[in-house]
Amino acid sequence: MLIQVYTQKMSCFTSNVYLPFSSKVQVYKPCLSYQFINPVQLRFLSSVKLSQPSIFSRQTLNPVVASTTTETGATVFEKPIPSFRNKNPKDINLLVVGSTGYIGKFVVKELINRGFNVIAIARERSGIRAKNSKDETLRQLEAANVCFSDVTQLDTLERSLDDLGVPIDVVVSCLASRTGGVKDSWKIDYEATKNSLIAGRNRGAKHFVLLSAICVQRPLLEFQRAKLKFEADLIKEAEEDSEFTYSIVRPTAFFKSLGGQVELVKDGKPYVMFGDGMLCACKPISERDLASFMADCVLDKDKVNRVLPIGGPDKALTPVEQGEILFRLMGKEPMFLKVPIGIMDFAIGVLDFLAKIFPSMEDAAEYGKIGRYYAAESMLLLDPETGEYSAEKTPSYGKDTLEDFFQRVLREGMSGQELGEQSIF
Ligand SMILES: NC(=O)c1ccc[n+]([C@@H]2O[C@H](COP(=O)([O-])OP(=O)(O)OC[C@H]3O[C@@H](n4cnc5c(N)ncnc54)[C@H](OP(=O)(O)O)[C@@H]3O)[C@@H](O)[C@H]2O)c1
Repeated sequence: MLIQVYTQKMSCFTSNVYLPFSSKVQVYKPCLSYQFINPVQLRFLSSVKLSQPSIFSRQTLNPVVASTTTETGATVFEKPIPSFRNKNPKDINLLVVGSTGYIGKFVVKELINRGFNVIAIARERSGIRAKNSKDETLRQLEAANVCFSDVTQLDTLERSLDDLGVPIDVVVSCLASRTGGVKDSWKIDYEATKNSLIAGRNRGAKHFVLLSAICVQRPLLEFQRAKLKFEADLIKEAEEDSEFTYSIVRPTAFFKSLGGQVELVKDGKPYVMFGDGMLCACKPISERDLASFMADCVLDKDKVNRVLPIGGPDKALTPVEQGEILFRLMGKEPMFLKVPIGIMDFAIGVLDFLAKIFPSMEDAAEYGKIGRYYAAESMLLLDPETGEYSAEKTPSYGKDTLEDFFQRVLREGMSGQELGEQSIF
């Protein structure tokens, strides 16, 4: 039986200190529980200054505490800690980091639609090349409780969350390096993501939903190694505390990664691919479908403590098949340009050599490797029995097909589907 020891029962405004809990006993300082912050207050607060906790009104918790008498006659107050999974979504507080990314924005929207209380951490300038102002970020994360902070600095993140003064039930991370560079990958895909785990755990989080990538199965790139290291930390955390759980989501290719040639082909250019165009395949998944799958991970017990590879509803598609869909939609004869993969290997060799002499070229060499990886490796489940990628064993989810997506881009262009800062993924 889990025991909560309530040391005081009073409202509090300033002592927003959440101590790291032991797994079995939670000793709360005066701040026992709060009525969740009204989103309007928080959005106002976050856009002004986070360190003004007195704006909030907090309700004193009036727990119904069961008491038992021990053999020695002492009365022990006991109360099982309710699993967040038994609560109403409106009473479940989700901390979302990476909320301003391609997937993160959709995840925030989906979680809000499902009625959760979403605290979205954002930078004061967000988006690709920091193009979004605070107002634009607030607009994009409409209805979320937006908290401007810095996930790369644990103490800053902790202070921001202290100022909010709310417990966290679940952390959802859609963080990712925007560059894929060597140092930035470790800083974001590992360290900042770890900061969100620590800060969430210090506020009671019992579950972590991680957006990872299916390509970590065959790790050759730094961002994959950084993601794998965090996945391992998450699994260890769950092994050490049976009340803590995780869902690691490893999606296949995103639509944005496959749409880059639509407008070129529309302008009469050939569809470019490497090798014979059959070197790799994927089951692409839309932002909306992936966000829905990630939202399922918050409450679904069958997704607990699992690594979850996930693709979209299409069958596995090679670059040739993707190109054929596109030409068919345009009513044109397919026109392919097949580039020998050896050209990429040569370029990577040159970049690697230069990076050894000029360390500042380390990231350029890494981008070459990322491009090579996506040109030749399938984004499908790697079958441990055969060591081969398996289309059949890659689970499908959702409704949005690549054909729908190509149709939309032909009609409306690539707005909202921009690639990251390195224009690779
Ligand atoms: N592309 C694909 O086909 C594919 C396929 C499978 C899996 N994945 C994986 O999916 C993940 C997410 O992808 P995505 O496209 O949604 O990512 P994204 O659009 O690049 O978003 C990255 C998020 O992380 C935040 N972030 C990055 N650097 C930060 C920093 N220094 N400080 C604070 N926040 C920072 C960004 O905030 P700002 O807005 O403030 O920059 C943004 O919210 C990646 O891990 C990727 O490997 C991608």
